[in-house]
Amino acid sequence: MLKSIAVLTSGGDSPGMNAATRAVVRTALFEGVKVWGVYNGYRGLLDEDMFEMKSRDVSDIIQRGGTFLGTARCRRFMTEEGRQEAYQHLKDRGIEGICIIGGDGSLRGAQKLSRETGIPIVGLPGTIDNDVWGSDYTIGCDTAANTIIDALNKLRDTASSHSRIAVVEVMGRNCGWLALQAGIAGGAEAILIPEVPFDLDEVSQGLIDSYNQGRRYSIVVVAEGAGSGIEIGNYIAEKTQMETRVSVLGHIQRGGSPSVRDRVKASQLGEKAALALINGQSDVVFGFNQGHVVAIDLTDAVTRKKPLTPEYLELAKVLV
Ligand code: ADP
Ligand code: F6P
Repeated sequence: MLKSIAVLTSGGDSPGMNAATRAVVRTALFEGVKVWGVYNGYRGLLDEDMFEMKSRDVSDIIQRGGTFLGTARCRRFMTEEGRQEAYQHLKDRGIEGICIIGGDGSLRGAQKLSRETGIPIVGLPGTIDNDVWGSDYTIGCDTAANTIIDALNKLRDTASSHSRIAVVEVMGRNCGWLALQAGIAGGAEAILIPEVPFDLDEVSQGLIDSYNQGRRYSIVVVAEGAGSGIEIGNYIAEKTQMETRVSVLGHIQRGGSPSVRDRVKASQLGEKAALALINGQSDVVFGFNQGHVVAIDLTDAVTRKKPLTPEYLELAKVLV
């Protein structure tokens, strides 16, 4: 059984990371295990920016967006020397295992650290993109999807008042999950995602047809991985000759108080991760599959590409 572990958040922040960190810390302390918090992801490991945490250190954070530990993108950690140095700093403090909360890039870094140094590592998928293989959920995706829906509702008000096309670019990196969810829940007329090829002429014709059938305004959701919302909006405006406005939602999608779903699921995952690490497990990522917590092999999580749920793709085809 491990006696001292650490936790860090890395990559893009996501709502619910605080709940996950809190659960890791409180579970470790409950089990009588020392727990260190590392500031600013892998950069904090290299800068030795870490502290031993007490229960009160994670008070008053469950309702906050972002990550109170801070996060970063760290180039030095991309090198083997950087990772060896990070390991040395952990060893110096008697830290025997580490929980990494982050997206696929952070988990890739975790896999290398574990492989090269042998330190036990457990990962949690923390990203709004919901793109980690093996889990149908990542910490923060629910809050982000709700933030997008809130924006779509507002854009619908103004688009309908002016009889315009509203093109909305949403995040997700190379994954269309956020766009697909938002498109279905927000009643979009077109959803453009990288997983499904599309023809902008056909999309434009569809918008013209629905205008001719009486629809006075339309919402088009574009996943950033499918192309630039601005360019797509310009193309559609040109083709349809209809008044079109583009909104790039940007980082607003990453902020905000986490939803109930994100708080509860992140807490469940944090507990599982801490227990697994303390009990000697390594190279696993905890996620959800059909409502249940599952352990995913770390290599699978970082090498396999997660497909979008076919049922949602079918549903979108019928509804748009
Ligand atoms: P996310 O975790 O949200 O996908 P990034 O892809 O930016 O975000 O990764 C966060 C950090 O994880 C990087 O800045 C780097 O320190 C580390 N990382 C990412 N990919 C690798 C890799 N292939 N090897 C080692 N470290 C990596
Ligand atoms: O991975 C989360 C994410 O918000 C992506 O959806 C987006 O492409 C990227 O991070 C933006 O990164 P940055 O915060 O570096 O602009």
